[in-house]
Amino acid sequence: MRTPILAGNWKMHKTIAEAADFAAQLPAEDPAPGVEKVICAPFTALAFLAEKLRDTPYRLGAQNMHHEEQGAYTGEISPLMLKELGVQYVIIGHSERRQYFNETDDAVNRKVKAALAHGLKPIVCVGESLAEREEGRTEEIVRRQTEAVLEGITETEAKEIVIAYEPVWAIGTGRSSTAEDANQTIGQIRRVIAGKVGETAAQSIRIQYGGSVKPDNIASFMAYPDIDGALVGGASLTADSYLSLVQGATAVGR
Ligand code: PGA
Repeated sequence: MRTPILAGNWKMHKTIAEAADFAAQLPAEDPAPGVEKVICAPFTALAFLAEKLRDTPYRLGAQNMHHEEQGAYTGEISPLMLKELGVQYVIIGHSERRQYFNETDDAVNRKVKAALAHGLKPIVCVGESLAEREEGRTEEIVRRQTEAVLEGITETEAKEIVIAYEPVWAIGTGRSSTAEDANQTIGQIRRVIAGKVGETAAQSIRIQYGGSVKPDNIASFMAYPDIDGALVGGASLTADSYLSLVQGATAVGR
């Protein structure tokens, strides 16, 4: 039985004051005990949120990190620095980082290994672009990306990883994948994991869908057996919407 995981990805949104406003609206009582609830905030809000979310049902995540512990990498943040703050999750290889910051499969793999080595749980993003989808290359692309994520990773380590299948054309466009298509691709990702690190890991790893998930469509994704939650950008920015998503992640048959 995999625990569903709903992660908000705030991207480059929210000052500390805005994060405080959001946190103040989270109820003390757990809104969805069966769901792991994560908020991936910008670096500048992490210290504040770590304090604020301590001893609450919400877990804290970052949106990127460097693979080295320290060094001459101006502007970068290391896994040690995140760990020290009490961060538990880190998004790695988001398509916006692959696209705008030239993150390669190899860089993603190095970051995944570094996160695991420091006890941070990576939420690793994979997904095809619109052109790749139209060329019928979805399976090939997610296979390549997933195999790269898992290169040199043991079966025990792999179980700590969360994968987010995010078709690039569905991110921030209001145009989500159909739940059926997402479930099918996620099933393929699970088979790639089985081939690379073994069936036990493939059955344990949580795989989220991401791309225009909203409170009114989350239940349709959760209804499919291979979809273990969602990584949500735009609809995670208000507390009301985030809380609806979290509740929606328990909605069907779990
Ligand atoms: P979106 O973004 O929910 O705004 O489409 C998802 C993501 O980029 O993780």
